Order: sequence, then C-alpha cells, then structure tokens
Amino acid sequence: MKITDTSDLWWKSAVIYCLDVETYMDGNDDGIGDFAGLARRIDYLADLGITCLWLMPFYPSPDRDDGYDISDFYGIDSRLGNHGDFVEVIRTAEDRGMRVIVDLVVNHTSDKHPWFVSARRSRTSPYRDFYVWRDEPPKGEQPTVFPGEESSVWEFDERTEQYFQHVFYRHQPDLNVANPQVRDEIVKTIGFWLALGVSGFRLDAVPFFIEPPKGVDIGDPHELLRDLKRFLQRRVGDAALLGEVNLPFREQVQFFGGERGGELDLQFDFMSMQALYLSLARSDPAPLIASLTARPTVPPEAAWANFVRNHDELTLDKLSDAEREEVFEAFAPDEAQRIYGRGITRRLPPMLAGDPRRIRMVYSLLFALPGTPVLFYGEEIGMGENSEIPGRHAVRTPMQWTDGKNGGFSRAAPSRLVAPIPGDGYAPEHVNVQQQRNDGDSLLQFIRGLVSRYRTSPEIGWGSLRILEHDGAGVLAHEVSSDVGRMIAVHNFTEVPVRLKLEVGAVEEGTALLDLHGPDRLSMDARGRVDLELVPYGFRWLRVSPAGDTRIG
Ligand code: GLC
Ligand code: CA
Repeated sequence: MKITDTSDLWWKSAVIYCLDVETYMDGNDDGIGDFAGLARRIDYLADLGITCLWLMPFYPSPDRDDGYDISDFYGIDSRLGNHGDFVEVIRTAEDRGMRVIVDLVVNHTSDKHPWFVSARRSRTSPYRDFYVWRDEPPKGEQPTVFPGEESSVWEFDERTEQYFQHVFYRHQPDLNVANPQVRDEIVKTIGFWLALGVSGFRLDAVPFFIEPPKGVDIGDPHELLRDLKRFLQRRVGDAALLGEVNLPFREQVQFFGGERGGELDLQFDFMSMQALYLSLARSDPAPLIASLTARPTVPPEAAWANFVRNHDELTLDKLSDAEREEVFEAFAPDEAQRIYGRGITRRLPPMLAGDPRRIRMVYSLLFALPGTPVLFYGEEIGMGENSEIPGRHAVRTPMQWTDGKNGGFSRAAPSRLVAPIPGDGYAPEHVNVQQQRNDGDSLLQFIRGLVSRYRTSPEIGWGSLRILEHDGAGVLAHEVSSDVGRMIAVHNFTEVPVRLKLEVGAVEEGTALLDLHGPDRLSMDARGRVDLELVPYGFRWLRVSPAGDTRIG
C-alpha cells in the first residue's frame, strides 16, 4: 500500500497513554481520582505529545478487580463523575488533538451485574443463558488465570445447584458469547460509547472472550471479532480495536484476521516484551532479536502495540522456566516481588536499580521499534512501585505531580487515598512531574523528545523491520523502512562502550546518516558501511537521508 497520508490510519503512528482515572488526578479532594481532575491534566498530556488516551475501566463496579468487574456497561462509577464529566474529558482531549479509547471488558461481568443477579436466581431466569452453566465442571477443565487466588474456573452456585464458568475471579462470571442476545448487548455497548465520542476500545482478554462454551458450536469464533470491527467501522469510520491477546505469534496473527485483516487493528506484542526483559537480564539483545525476527508481518492497516510495562503483573509466561528464573533472579530477587508463578509486580526503574542510562536505552528502543508505543502512566517520570502493596496493585499508585502532600494527586488525608503513595526512593519528593518539567535533563523531557521524534518519523510506526549485521557485541541494530522513509537505530545492552562497523547496505551516492538526537551527519564508505561508537547503554537513531532530502533533521 502506498502511503499518501499517514494520518489515515491514526493508530499506526499514535502514542498511546494508559491511565486509570481513579489514580490520575483528584478534582474534588476526596482522595479518589476523577474525570474533573483528568480534564485538568489534558494539557500536560498534550504537551508530552500523547495522541491517544486509553482509559482503564471507569464503569460502576464492586471494584474487586480494579474495575475489570463491571456491574453496568453503560454507567460511570459515581466516585469518578458522571457522563457529563466524561464527555468534557473527551471534548477537551479532542480539542488538543488527542483521541480517547476505553477499556471494553466483555468476557465477563461482575457477579453484581443485574444480568447475573437475575441469572443465578433461577434456572428459568431470562438472563440464565447469558452465562455458562453446567451440572458438572467439564473434564479437562482449563487452568485458572489466577493461580494461588482461584483454584478452578467453575464455581458451584447453591441456589440453582449448577456450576458457572469464570476464567478470571469467581466474582467475574463469563458471558456466553454463543447467545445472540449477549452479542447484541455487546454491540449496543460499543455503539453507546462511540456515540459519546470515543475513538475505539482496548478489548480485554480477547481469546477468552471469543471462545464459546465447551461443546457449543458457533462456527468460526473469529467471526465475532470481524462483526465487531465491521460495526465499529459503520458507526465511526476510523475507530480502532486494540486487543489484549497474550498468545504465541502463530496464534496471535489470527486475531488480526490473518493476512486479510478485518479483526483487531492493534495487538500488544507480549512476546517481544518478555524477550526484552530476558535480553536486559543477560545484557544481550539476542532473545529480543529472535522475537523480533519471528514477529509476523501484519496486514498493512494493522500494527503491533509495543510496551515495556502495563497495569498487570509483568508476565513472563511465554519464557521457558529457566529463562523466567533468570529474569526473576535479575529483577525480582524477592519472592514477594513475584506473582502467579509467572510475573513480576515491579515497575521498570527499580528493576534497573534506577540506572538512568539503562532506563533511557529501554525507552529509546520502545519508540524505535516498528509499531505503536504504549505508555503506562507514570513511566514518563520513572515512577516506582509501592512495594508495601501486595500483588498487581503495587504499580497502580497515584500519579506523582509535585513533591507536595500526596504527590499533588489530592489534598485529602493520606489515609483516604485510593492507594498509598510509595514512600521510598521513588516517593514524590524524588519523582514528580513538576520537578522534571523544569529540568532539561529529566526523564520526562527525554521521553517528550522521543515522542516528538517518533511522531516526526512516521517510518517507525509504518515501517517494516530488518535486523542489521555488525561486529559489536551486545548491540541491537535494526532498520525500519517504509514509503515515507528509512531509519536505523542501534542500542547497546551492555555496561561497556562498544565500537561497531554497521552494514547499512547499498545507498545512493551522497546519502548520509542523520542523527535524530544530535547534530551529527555521518557518511558511509563505498560499501555502505559506517563506524559507530556507543557509550555504555548508549543508543542512536540515524535517518538514512539521500542527497537532496527535504526532510528536516
Ligand atoms: C485483563 C486485565 C486484568 C484483569 C483481567 C480480567 O487481563 O488486564 O487487569 O484482571 O483482564 O478482566
Ligand atoms: Ca475525587
């Protein structure tokens, strides 16, 4: 596909920022973040260069899984505001050129959702078949997603004497997608939020969602995703679906709709994220290179969503046991920093012992890989986790705005805060937006620079990847190229300086390499090779700039 306007498929060069309204900014000082508070921070996000916000669940919820247990798909949690406040945020964001996508959690509902309340009252409830009921758990039942917290995906319901299915917590009964009424309700929900102005959805737990109950034939379950995408497109032409699909690449591509596309527009690259941590643990890019090389080509309209950290445990489930152990030893030496036997409950900076060189190298890479970068709030200032909070919640603490009370998140008494703020070296007095805003050398300014470079280099988002040959140990060299340009990036995974001779390949006479983070213009020898030097954990982005190139560096 020839690219004429890279804004046509906005998600292919977006910078996505995930936040939970509840922990972002408190507008009325009751200790809980809210839409009014978020509205006041839209300018901050626009200044950072964010082009798309992803809002974690903000719906009415008993809040036993941080809002991923929804009791009303159309509502707004009253602690966070109302629909008016929501629309204000969407409008303000739109005014600053920012889109908003929202979490769509339709694999299950909360057990307090009126559908389930009715369904469990009697076997003849009109909502009974909205969920999955069995007299006995089927043989060979699938494992729970939360080992240690749940022991089975089936829960016996005393009143009606049947089991219901729940892949996640027992208070999250699975919806029955084989029931056309359920599918209609999901579509209506999507239509509702689109009408309020959202630009798409982050679809939760996709493989579980489309899987019909065991023994029920619904034809090709992917038809469900195609239906959703078609509906989205009819309502809002350029609305996008970003899916959570943590599966091996081979299976993952099916969720883009194979080569034809037509299903998810974006999928998180869980495989390369995990390989990245193994590479970091070994100071060797080889595992990441292997993953990136195996990463399938996606349909031209689709993209990989790259990320370093999300709101869940940092899952390492796709590594071998030995590899996972290596990462655990390097970055989560304490058993309390691990969860479910597969993940880590820490944020990146503490794992890298706060080494700014290493942290920056990782984020440079995040923005230099083909695809769409996704940040989790607080990453831009290098927030740490609160190690006193057990489990996945350790990384879900309030955003740190200032060095003042509660990190400027709220003026409520600290005991009333939605989550306690870290008190160690990552406390707001050390890590906050205000201080970093005024410091040209800060991580915040650094990330801001990366965002801007990424946005002005659409070859990254649109590009295809090639790993480059060189002779420098511990260095990842890759090229992204597309109709709109070509860029080379080198990243040193080691703590020693490295010299390397890089094979750029055949280029036109007079072509130079333009450093995108500094003033250098490098030239290549007749065979298209260039000599580079990298400091410990150093990196460079070099645009391949033919003679007469009119783009500014
Ligand atoms: C997704 C969410 C996670 C949640 C689960 C159940 O994996 O990211 O936070 O617990 O789905 O909804
Ligand atoms: Ca509040």
